[in-house]
Amino acid sequence: MTNEKCQVIEHADRGSGYRYLRLAAPAIVAAAQPGQFVHLRVPGLETSALRRPFSIYNAQDGVLELLYKQVGRGTAAMSAIKVGETVEVMGPLGHGFPVKCSGKALLVGGGFGVAPLYFLARLLKERGVEVKLYVGGRTSNDLLELDRFRSLGVEIATATNDGSSGVKGLVTDPLDDDLASFYESKQVFEIFACGPDPMLKAVAMRATGTGSKGWISMDRHMVCGVGACYACIQKTVRGNSRCCIEGPVFAASDLVF
Ligand SMILES: Cc1cc2nc3c(=O)[nH]c(=O)nc-3n(C[C@H](O)[C@H](O)[C@H](O)COP(=O)(O)OP(=O)(O)OC[C@H]3O[C@@H](n4cnc5c(N)ncnc54)[C@H](O)[C@@H]3O)c2cc1C
Ligand code: FES
Repeated sequence: MTNEKCQVIEHADRGSGYRYLRLAAPAIVAAAQPGQFVHLRVPGLETSALRRPFSIYNAQDGVLELLYKQVGRGTAAMSAIKVGETVEVMGPLGHGFPVKCSGKALLVGGGFGVAPLYFLARLLKERGVEVKLYVGGRTSNDLLELDRFRSLGVEIATATNDGSSGVKGLVTDPLDDDLASFYESKQVFEIFACGPDPMLKAVAMRATGTGSKGWISMDRHMVCGVGACYACIQKTVRGNSRCCIEGPVFAASDLVF
């Protein structure tokens, strides 16, 4: 883990409240694993909590990519970051996804949950793993960065509440269809998920219910990001765990919802 001063290479509006940040961060990138996160010191934020956690969307050739949604004071202040400016980033932090998979890798995401799944998909594809992404949102505008997944050769199934893309319903609908046919054909798979809590609970239940391995990235409010404050507690079968140290990725079978 390092605290790196990173120059901003690109900062773009991706629509629907999402922004994309590209930073020169050679030290962090050299150590980064999919599912880990960084803690970014937000310029201009004058409170005791100056940093915000973000998943590593991609880490390649010394460049760190983040995809974030503007939701409150910290991310609003981040939206003013200019190209050429330097920001302080601590990372990589936490415990990520295993970058190996028995059988097919089923990646399930919603909202900014697709961010760590892209980095994971890229490395799994490099290792010759077959990858399918299931992504859900309220409308097609909430389905982010699908072209980048497509360019990796990832198969994609979408679900939206209004039916504007893919199945009308929840992301678990196309997942359930596939799980039924995988069961029939004895296809081996592992599930990797990141997104809103109800989705994660539903996916974790499916992983444990089918006796498959599942890896779930939990999103908890964080303060220190390094294990000291206990703000980010997740219940597990082993008791309380800190998402910033033991997580954010946990085995589905370890989680207590
Ligand atoms: C491990 C981890 C990885 C994350 N990765 C990403 C990412 O890749 N992209 C991204 O956009 N966001 C990500 N988040 C969430 C992000 O950290 C928060 O959205 C951000 O800290 C909000 O800061 P704020 O000051 O703008 O909002 P605040 O003013 O603190 O809060 C505004 C609103 O956002 C909600 N909020 C605050 N923290 C979170 C949170 N952790 N998750 C969901 N809602 C929250 C609050 O409940 C409130 O409704 C991640 C969080 C964690 C713990
Ligand atoms: S954020 Fe402080 S212990 Fe996890």
